[in-house]
Amino acid sequence: MVKDMFAEFKEHSIAEFFKKNRQMLGFTGKVRSLTVIVHELVTNSLDACEEAGILPEIYVEIKELGEEHYLITAKDNGPGIPENYVGKALGMMLAGTKFHRYVQQRGQQGIGASGCTMFSYITTGQPVKAISCNDGKRKEYEISIDLKKNKPVVNRISEEDTEEHGLTVISQYKDVKYEKSNKSPFEYIRRTALANPHAAITFKDPFGELSVFPRSIESNPARPLEIKPHPLGITTHDLLEFAQHQGGEYRKISAFLQETFSRLSANRVSELKGIAPDVDFEKSPKAMTWEDAEKITKAFQQVKWIAPSTDTLVPIAKQQIELSFRNIFNPELLVVTERSPKVYRGGIPFMVEVGIAYGGGVAAADKKGEIMRFANRVPLLFDTSGCAITETVKNIDWGRYNLKNFEEEPIAVLVNFISVYVPYTSAGKLAISMESDIEDEIRYAVMEAARGIQKYISGRRKATEIATKKKVVSRYVSQLASDLGSLSGKDSGKIEKKLIAMIEEKYSGPDAEGDGGDVAEEETSHESGENGEESE
Ligand SMILES: Nc1ncnc2c1ncn2[C@@H]1O[C@H](COP(=O)(O)OP(=O)(O)OP(=O)(O)O)[C@@H](O)[C@H]1O
Ligand SMILES: [Mg+2]
Repeated sequence: MVKDMFAEFKEHSIAEFFKKNRQMLGFTGKVRSLTVIVHELVTNSLDACEEAGILPEIYVEIKELGEEHYLITAKDNGPGIPENYVGKALGMMLAGTKFHRYVQQRGQQGIGASGCTMFSYITTGQPVKAISCNDGKRKEYEISIDLKKNKPVVNRISEEDTEEHGLTVISQYKDVKYEKSNKSPFEYIRRTALANPHAAITFKDPFGELSVFPRSIESNPARPLEIKPHPLGITTHDLLEFAQHQGGEYRKISAFLQETFSRLSANRVSELKGIAPDVDFEKSPKAMTWEDAEKITKAFQQVKWIAPSTDTLVPIAKQQIELSFRNIFNPELLVVTERSPKVYRGGIPFMVEVGIAYGGGVAAADKKGEIMRFANRVPLLFDTSGCAITETVKNIDWGRYNLKNFEEEPIAVLVNFISVYVPYTSAGKLAISMESDIEDEIRYAVMEAARGIQKYISGRRKATEIATKKKVVSRYVSQLASDLGSLSGKDSGKIEKKLIAMIEEKYSGPDAEGDGGDVAEEETSHESGENGEESE
């Protein structure tokens, strides 16, 4: 019996796995699949341009070839891909320049582009066409993926001289559908432009309609620094893997630890030696055992560390969010937070930016209770529920901010999660996992912005009340002045002027008496309700 069972034993490649489980890459639903493809191509272009220090210029075109059959062209002015990497970059899963690095980027897995190549191949049987311009050459390739082996199949079809640089990926897909909705490639690109004001993006839809999103700033965001991992974010297995792969460069574990991790000085090594006396810190890192690694990571938890360096995170920034929001919505009111970076899982730095737009263009666009999610400036349009951003924003008691019916209010809340590692819930990178450190920080950031909105709404309500009272009282002024004049025998014109001055004094200016005493009370109660924030 046992023999029969193992006759079925087989090995499979990661590409075969994702062919079978394409939903894990976001390829589920015809409309969504098309947006996911655009998402993978555009994020790659932005990453490549920024890493090469080039201001991104991106062109995306979707053409309908037949029923549920489309051709997508994505062109950028980035560095292109050298010939010896182009096959693996676009036709091999888990290959790329990002997975192994600890730096804020949009891509982080090495599956996005090759996932699209796979999806194109399994729905149309066609290879992807890639045109790479770099080092003075324009080379055109056909690339597909050998799914059984997870190996690229590359065919170079032309080569000529050029002065240009950049990558163009032309690929076709079936089983997808273009629709104009809030989950469409158009909306994806619109939101990308909102969070990436340094990028110029042009989009041509299948109806030939051209949308141009010009850049609103002329420089790339500061380049995020690559950092070393912090000891508090390291597991036993991580440590052992680091020791086996990078340990060969060092003679002793003590030197390896200092060079591999951030905040790990010679003094900290002495401290670790005291906490884990059985570990030989003088032996080669290659000789580190599981037991050693376990003792060292346990000791890591007992040392008082300086928090990881957080200047490696680059936000969109307040001014830019304001500018972008004004361009897109022109809201009546706009509040953007500026908060300092925090740490999750003990050692991974992250930061949350929040912008809230209210009224004006938000109302005109008929947007109600809209939550715009971003991770490292990448819009997240799908898997709304189960995402730390949506869940946190929805669970806020909006009534405390005079926004009782959040989903009916003309309000758009933008949340950008920034980190050297975004804990996505799946390989499709569509939602952020619910981790308490992350949820707490999102909540505090949103509440901070909401307080600004609340003050304004209370103020506006108070102003309306005062204006109404003033109008009512003013209605009786001339009759009253005339009556008082007859009674007293004094000049009713003068009396009227005096009465008007009294009304102006009472109902104008910062000390105007409305019925707004409740504002101060409300504010006090909010402050006391959110004091938890200060104790983070
Ligand atoms: N437009 C581009 N210009 C230059 N290099 C690119 C471009 N697109 C992809 N690459 C290279 O190909 C690699 C693989 O891309 P892919 O999208 O598969 O993975 P990734 O971007 O590293 O991570 P993720 O799976 O999270 O998207 C990238 O790491 C990058 O080195
Ligand atoms: Mg990618």
